[in-house]
Amino acid sequence: MSRPIVILNASLYGDTTASIVVEDGVITQVGETVDAPEGAWEIDASGLVALPGLVDLHTHLREPGREDAETIETGSRAAAVGGWTAVHAMANTNPVSDTAGVVEQVYSRGQEIGLVDVFPVGAVTVGLKGEHLSEMGAMANSRARVRLFSDDGVCVYDPVIMRRALEYVKTFDGAVVQHAQDLRLTEGSQMHEGEVSAELGLAGWPAVAEESIVARDALLAEHVGSRVHVQHLSTRGSVEIVRWAKDRGIAVTAEATPHHLLLTHESARTYDPLFKVNPPLRTEDDVEALRAAVADGTIDIIATDHAPHASEDKDCEWAAASFGMLGLETAVGVVQKVLVDSGLMTWRDVARVMSENPARIGKVDHLHGRPLAVGEPANITLVDPKAAWTVSADALSSRARNTPYGGIELPGRAVVTLLRGAPTHIDASLNPPTEGVPA
Ligand code: DOR
Repeated sequence: MSRPIVILNASLYGDTTASIVVEDGVITQVGETVDAPEGAWEIDASGLVALPGLVDLHTHLREPGREDAETIETGSRAAAVGGWTAVHAMANTNPVSDTAGVVEQVYSRGQEIGLVDVFPVGAVTVGLKGEHLSEMGAMANSRARVRLFSDDGVCVYDPVIMRRALEYVKTFDGAVVQHAQDLRLTEGSQMHEGEVSAELGLAGWPAVAEESIVARDALLAEHVGSRVHVQHLSTRGSVEIVRWAKDRGIAVTAEATPHHLLLTHESARTYDPLFKVNPPLRTEDDVEALRAAVADGTIDIIATDHAPHASEDKDCEWAAASFGMLGLETAVGVVQKVLVDSGLMTWRDVARVMSENPARIGKVDHLHGRPLAVGEPANITLVDPKAAWTVSADALSSRARNTPYGGIELPGRAVVTLLRGAPTHIDASLNPPTEGVPA
């Protein structure tokens, strides 16, 4: 058992000031004054914001298969540094996570490393090929208890397969998690279809290719009476469709990534593949719509789509490069910059979109996204909103280097992460004790 911890004078949810005592993995006291247990490590948390441990619904860990880009261990470390206590690992591994065997292996490896809970997402179709449903029931009943299924990286394009998947997950209250991309409309596409793609001569990925699938799947979810979660929403039109579907009572939830909330297609003018991502970075108007939608609850969560790539897959010409960018270690800073410091959201809202809602959608809300209250598991993230820092790719814990934020200053970051009371990340500025804390 790790040493007791006293978090002194934190700003709970960025709101009231209180201290928190953690013993044997559980929160045992919360209050203006607390009794420090013997031998406790005291953290002076004045000026720090205490949030429930963050939960990412969209992470690529690349193991098994591309351990040269990321492993469950390096990805877990990047997650802990970023303030996350749980991540949902996407299925586009090699072999694909489409059997109980693979998801159990990923889950167990995550537990063995112990830095974050790794919840595997199962593939919807065998080999992500879009042809035959995977063994969803076996994955759901496995030790990994899979509740979310996604072919992320590719869209579940066939409407009949999508319908069957929605019917299947209903039996165990799971959800189909969709990468909304009409495959025909985006064949060969490289970036957002618009003025910039026309000027650069790169093949465009039109907004309608996302929006048409979002609309179709909302209607299918309604027809089946099942749950669909839409990944990385990137356009104003998608926001409007999700808003319409929610008003109609359809069980649709949606996510936005930090990069779609900050960056635009203008970045592609650099021809730097660090800005190549799927769905692509879009227009200022889309960014504005996404920010407003996260703030008003139309978009339920922020998820990173942390997509590590080996340098040979990114250090090449734009057209040859892989899609994707890192996100775990920079998410808190980006979210603070675009949503909190801009006045659109409070830290209380951040707890909702980065911890409580993702835990609920992922069906892990008995473990994560819990209130900061006595008797709850001590999954806690302390954020220093004044720790302005400049992102350096070489200083990241991820094995990969493909951050689009190199050289950019972010206003804050996670400085302590506790998983069931055990510190998984302590920023050096807090002078972590040398003994008794398994950092
Ligand atoms: O940019 C992306 N990268 N989008 C995806 O959907 C997949 C991901 C990856 O696996 O690299």
